[in-house]
Amino acid sequence: MKLKLILVALVIAVSSCGGNDKKEVKKEAPVKEVVKEVVKETAKVNPMDDKGVGPITNITLGDIDESLVAKGKEIFKAKCTACHKIKKRYIGPALKGVTQRQSPEWIMNMILNPEKMIVENKTAKELLKEFSAPMANQHLTQDEARAVLEYFRTKN
Ligand code: HEC
Repeated sequence: MKLKLILVALVIAVSSCGGNDKKEVKKEAPVKEVVKEVVKETAKVNPMDDKGVGPITNITLGDIDESLVAKGKEIFKAKCTACHKIKKRYIGPALKGVTQRQSPEWIMNMILNPEKMIVENKTAKELLKEFSAPMANQHLTQDEARAVLEYFRTKN
């Protein structure tokens, strides 16, 4: 009787060990995939971590630069108001508060590289679905896009 119990215990111990080993192997194999998923999930939780795709990889913002704001406002009026208003949804989204919902890099990449953004970036793809018209490349220089970003910073 005792021997039987010991045997049963042994069998359980061995089989559960085997089970654990298998699980560990499964867990370790796709580490890269898991990391990718986590990065994606984080970007979903905090869109400010999503820099988008394009030439702008890192921007440090300082205090509002009023002369840059004025320049950005002119560019916005000339090149963007065909589709955007600040306070109202039009052909594209209302841009009020855009600097609160997207990172500065994302905004500049959306201005400079919309063709790729609406294909490769999750947030931009979702916007395209919602607005059905694609955001147009207005061929701004990086400096011009930076000025428009400064203007948007005053529209929260
Ligand atoms: C032909 C119409 C059109 C023009 C011109 C246009 N846009 Fe857009 N824009 C859109 C649409 C539509 C979207 C939504 C995304 C999409 O559908 O591709 C968008 C999205 C955006 C977004 C993201 C908004 C958000 O809520 O996250 C920003 C920022 C933006 N545009 C800035 C600009 C700027 C700056 C200009 C001028 C240089 C400009 N757009 C010119 C149509 C346009």
